[in-house]
Amino acid sequence: MKISTIKKQINWASLAIGLAFFAVMSLVFFIYSVDFSLLVLVFVVFVYAKFVRKVENLPSNLDLSILAAISILIPLVVTAVFKVSGYVIPVIGFVVLITLLFDSLELSFIFGFLVSLLGASMCNDNFNIGISLLCGSIVAAMLTYRVKRRSQVIRAVVLAGCVQFFVAFIMEREQSFFVLPALDLNLIRMISLNVALSSAIVLTLQPIFEYVFRVVTNISLLEMSDFNNPLLRRLILEAPGTYQHSLVVANLSEAAAESIGANPLLARVGAYYHDIGKMLKPEYFVENLVNYKDIHKKLKPSMSKLIIFNHVKDGLDLAAKYKINPKIADFITQHHGRTLVYYFYQRAKELEPEGKHEEEYRYPGPKPQNKETAIVALADTIEALSRTLEEPTPSRIEEMVREVVKKRFMEGELDECNLTLKDLEKITQSFIRILNAVFHARINYPKDDSHKQ
Ligand SMILES: [Fe+2]
Ligand SMILES: [Fe+2]
Repeated sequence: MKISTIKKQINWASLAIGLAFFAVMSLVFFIYSVDFSLLVLVFVVFVYAKFVRKVENLPSNLDLSILAAISILIPLVVTAVFKVSGYVIPVIGFVVLITLLFDSLELSFIFGFLVSLLGASMCNDNFNIGISLLCGSIVAAMLTYRVKRRSQVIRAVVLAGCVQFFVAFIMEREQSFFVLPALDLNLIRMISLNVALSSAIVLTLQPIFEYVFRVVTNISLLEMSDFNNPLLRRLILEAPGTYQHSLVVANLSEAAAESIGANPLLARVGAYYHDIGKMLKPEYFVENLVNYKDIHKKLKPSMSKLIIFNHVKDGLDLAAKYKINPKIADFITQHHGRTLVYYFYQRAKELEPEGKHEEEYRYPGPKPQNKETAIVALADTIEALSRTLEEPTPSRIEEMVREVVKKRFMEGELDECNLTLKDLEKITQSFIRILNAVFHARINYPKDDSHKQ
């Protein structure tokens, strides 16, 4: 292999970040005379997570370095700077934050393991501390995975604290197993301090970390899904048709995300906001047309295209104005990917058959970058098409859904979103199930006129 090819394969920015991280951490380890082999272990674990396990939702190299730095600093600050017992290291709070932010139990376990190991090593290789911290962190991660309320988080932190105490209590006892040891008040005090510190870390750092790592927790998502939220209220009042469309897209997307193990709440909330930009010119979008008076008939196709394209830009402006999390703003930019505004493209071709219009009538993209945005993009088209079905029988619904999914796949719209063919089949099945339920509810039963006779 040529050297130039090898050079191209190296991500220089990642390498620089990794080396800078290694240099800073080496200095910290040197100052506090911590065993250097632990630093090597941190790297081995991350290389394993990134390249061997390919852990899902793994943050970028920079974010990973920041998290690794924090996971080294937490036990250092507690044991070397404040010189308190290792039982106070708030590994529970840190692991809960990672679980909430990155929606990955595997990542939380990796960090729980690292901080516990470092904590034990910084307390003269105290095995009891390491094991009790690890048990507390595992319970905390499992109890906070995909929770939606702050009260559930605090309950989980307290329960994880109890587990940590129980493990520490068992391990610290010196008598035989059958003799009930006296309660160690000092241990209770230290672990209570840990629980208090962990709760404070989660509550204060969660919004800051969401901003720093450009992620969104289920807690924030639930707050954003409230229809009293000013932006959603405006959507209901200013573009009621788009609001109805977004509700159905949300139901379709949530079920599909659930079926493949993606984040259903993220898909639902993303669907609520995906067409928010339409509220500035609602009358130009089919779902808001009053008496089906098509305003576009008077316009040139290029003008119509511009107005339609602008709902993405307007949506982004509104998202910035209302401080909507970037993860949700992604749904606004990605839900049309690089698709063609087919109706106006056809009209342009009719008016000017020799012109090359295809590129001009394509949305600028990007294509969906994750599973949830891809699901919303599919659900969006399927919802719009389902309204044009004249007789929505189960077989016609299935045919339409399969056609849309196949077309998007063939066009390469789903190339960048990590969906497998197996996932696509599950998504298709969920869409068919939900649409059948929606149309079944809409069937007009014959009126009972018996009372007139
Ligand atoms: Fe849209
Ligand atoms: Fe839409």
